[in-house]
Amino acid sequence: MLADVVLGIQHGDEAKGKVTHYLSKNKDYTHVLRFNGGCNAGHTIYHEGRKFVTHHIPAGVFYGIKSIIGPGCVISPKHFFEEVKELQEAGIQLHGKLFIAKNAHVITENHLVEEKMESKIGTTRRGNGPAYRDKYARKGIRASEVSALNSYMIDLYEEFHNDKTIKVLCEGAQGFGLDVDWGDYPYVTSSHCGLGSVFLNAVDPRWLRDVWGVAKIYETYVGAKSFEPDEPVFQALRDLGEEYGATTGRPRQCNWLNLNELQKSITLNSVNKLVINKMDVVRELGQFKLYHDEKLVDLEGEKEMCDYITAQLPNNIEIFFSEDKNRI
Ligand code: IMP
Ligand code: MG
Repeated sequence: MLADVVLGIQHGDEAKGKVTHYLSKNKDYTHVLRFNGGCNAGHTIYHEGRKFVTHHIPAGVFYGIKSIIGPGCVISPKHFFEEVKELQEAGIQLHGKLFIAKNAHVITENHLVEEKMESKIGTTRRGNGPAYRDKYARKGIRASEVSALNSYMIDLYEEFHNDKTIKVLCEGAQGFGLDVDWGDYPYVTSSHCGLGSVFLNAVDPRWLRDVWGVAKIYETYVGAKSFEPDEPVFQALRDLGEEYGATTGRPRQCNWLNLNELQKSITLNSVNKLVINKMDVVRELGQFKLYHDEKLVDLEGEKEMCDYITAQLPNNIEIFFSEDKNRI
């Protein structure tokens, strides 16, 4: 029995989808599990040279791995079926591979309508907050109550605890900086985006092997608060990094990497494998800056930046500096 976890450790859009897709290909998992969030997520995946953006559906389906939307998630039947159609039309086999936990909650039409004009938090307007609110107020609807979803139902206790050969890859959504408890409240999402969230989805903590923390070499955030300093360099960064939302198309606000926040996310989520993406973007930009201990550190070049980060992080963490353009 084994569980690996892929987590966003900034504010989402760190390329978790790419990492999950990569690990699905190279490791022999029996399951891929989405454990939090809804169709607010937008995971960009390049599969066999084609671009896909998934919202609900775990990246395991691209390699025929049994993929489950867990009870920690909220699911919009409307968006789910749209996504199913899109993937099937592209030739991705979903039959017998895609399941939804019976006790996942539903994003209803009313939840979607309620969020249509939301602007205070700058949500994705996908009904995520209202669905979680109703779940906790005990007014929600579970997936098992929606007849259209019947053929996708699965009981995760039976699935994971009757078999001694489970190897599950847990695919996080959003990022720890958007976690409802650890993010910058109220500018957060309505679910738990950290490691603890995994274990609310029938995964036994004793199965845990690797926690892949996924970050970018700079930061982005989408939402209502002001995040980006008023400097032209960030517009250049946004364009070079193609930092426009995969779900909503909104421009992502950009800023330099905050090393202290990164350290905090790593510690609170027991990250032992760290992926830092988009090295090619800062290389093209030609500026290598980060915040550390409330100071802006201006580094000479890419190597100096990697060395600086490596030196500040615990040495039992394996670090992978990765490029956007190496699309797997
Ligand atoms: P909600 O999750 O749609 O309620 O949005 C709450 C906050 O999280 C907003 O700032 C969103 O832009 C942000 N957010 C939600 N999902 C994602 C994501 O997948 N990537 C980046 N930001 C997200
Ligand atoms: Mg995204």
